[in-house]
Amino acid sequence: MFMQMISKLATVLLLTISTIATTLADETTPNNAMVLRKIMQELDNNMQSTNHAITREDWDVVAKTALLIAEHPEPPFSEKLRIMMFFGRDTSRLKQLDGQTHQAAKNLATEAKTGNRQNIISSFNTLEQSCTNCHQQFKNAFIKHFYKP
Ligand code: HEC
Repeated sequence: MFMQMISKLATVLLLTISTIATTLADETTPNNAMVLRKIMQELDNNMQSTNHAITREDWDVVAKTALLIAEHPEPPFSEKLRIMMFFGRDTSRLKQLDGQTHQAAKNLATEAKTGNRQNIISSFNTLEQSCTNCHQQFKNAFIKHFYKP
């Protein structure tokens, strides 16, 4: 019984160490496959679809694409860990800006259902500004660290 526990503990410990080691190795190798970039490209596509739908005054599509933006996928845990390790204490600011984009997209979806053109456009602008806010603070450092080490 006791030996079993020890061996289980050892396995957990080994797994933990190897996870940390992989993460650290990742940290130093250039990696062109960050999931975040794909997520960003998808956000960009959805922003364009939303913008076009606003021009057509197709509020149903605006509401749908805005929700896709609000519910965009997250990078896998290992990638999040790398991002958190790199940004350290600034991570909370990054999360706050991400939250603002989610909220702005939700507001746009709600606004789209009212069909009020002026409010929809102003919500769209707020959403776009929320993207820019994060890019201004984090994008260059991110690219420099993860793509051009
Ligand atoms: C919380 C921070 C944050 C928010 C919010 C954010 N982005 Fe980004 N974005 C980044 C980072 C970091 C990068 C650099 C990632 C990279 O180049 O791999 C980036 C890169 C991009 C790129 C360039 C991708 C490429 O192929 O080079 C596009 C396009 C983009 N974001 C669109 C958006 C749109 C649209 C929104 C809002 C709906 C948005 N982003 C909101 C952090 C953010």
